[in-house]
Amino acid sequence: MKKRLLTGLQPSGALHLGNYFGALKPFVDMYEDYESHLMVVDYHSLTTVRDGDLLRQNIIDIVKDYLAAGVDPEKVVLFKQSDVPQHTELAWIFECLVTVPFLQQAHAYKDKVAKGLEANAGLFNYPMLMAADILLYDTEIVPVGEDQRQHIEYAREATGKFNNAFGETFVPPQEKIYEAVGVVPGVDGQKMSKSYKNTIPLFGSEEEIQKAVMSIVTDSSGGRPEHVYAIHKLFRSEEELDQLYAEKEGKYKDLKEALIADIEAVIAPMREKRASITDDDVRAVLETGAQKARERAEAKMEDVRKKIGVSL
Ligand code: ADP
Ligand code: TRP
Repeated sequence: MKKRLLTGLQPSGALHLGNYFGALKPFVDMYEDYESHLMVVDYHSLTTVRDGDLLRQNIIDIVKDYLAAGVDPEKVVLFKQSDVPQHTELAWIFECLVTVPFLQQAHAYKDKVAKGLEANAGLFNYPMLMAADILLYDTEIVPVGEDQRQHIEYAREATGKFNNAFGETFVPPQEKIYEAVGVVPGVDGQKMSKSYKNTIPLFGSEEEIQKAVMSIVTDSSGGRPEHVYAIHKLFRSEEELDQLYAEKEGKYKDLKEALIADIEAVIAPMREKRASITDDDVRAVLETGAQKARERAEAKMEDVRKKIGVSL
């Protein structure tokens, strides 16, 4: 029997290189060897997006991104979280099992609030909705970026709390993090994030990518523009880069132009594929995915409801 793999990304803005190398590409590289689920976690993005038309557009866009990046909907259950109400139902149950001080230790929550995002209760409870996303499908492996490591620990904690209270029900999931990718820096050198407006868009136009790369902060006391290099090494081996960066020492514009060319070479074919995907294609994929996911999630929840005592 194949192991189960699942990941999700928020439709909170255009996907960027950090999302691609941290989560989407690892998923694309692995998913055919597993029984795989890929989500659009739209209820998670409600913690930051308050514009219905924008969220609707973002959902369509991210599914196109998934498909263009190489996800075959025949081989994955591709769905959006809000189509499967069992996720929010299970999240509530987990919220009743973990403490406020435990959730207060979440780095992602603290970082977002420190960056000025509203500390709404959804943002605070976010890790328990994520635990529900993962545990509903008995997921064993979760490909994510380094910044999500603690959230997977939280999902394991939810597993333990539930199983201790009500008997063996959930499987503890394991994160799959590509150490070589680490945390991809944004143009300002901070973690690249949709919420921080410092991204290089994955499917931006060539001009948008150019503009973003040219704006990468180059504070290079050691002679090498570290933030440019950190992004460049996602595209080329360090040996190749060390040679290039030695030849072009101090020539930041040339190095940025080399990076733009390398990004274009990878993105252009995917961008072309993306342009051929219609909104109706997206709706059809999500409808099929929702049916499959709901069936599975409901079977799990029937067991959960019995165990906690709400189903008579
Ligand atoms: P964002 O922070 O841009 O809103 P999400 O929280 O939706 O991104 O993250 C989606 C996935 O992309 C997660 O698995 C996350 O770990 C990964 N990811 C996001 N930003 C980065 C980054 N800068 N470097 C590596 N992985 C990242
Ligand atoms: N919290 C993740 C992020 O910001 C998104 C997410 C929600 C997720 N549910 C998930 C990732 C389940 C993996 C599995 O990136």
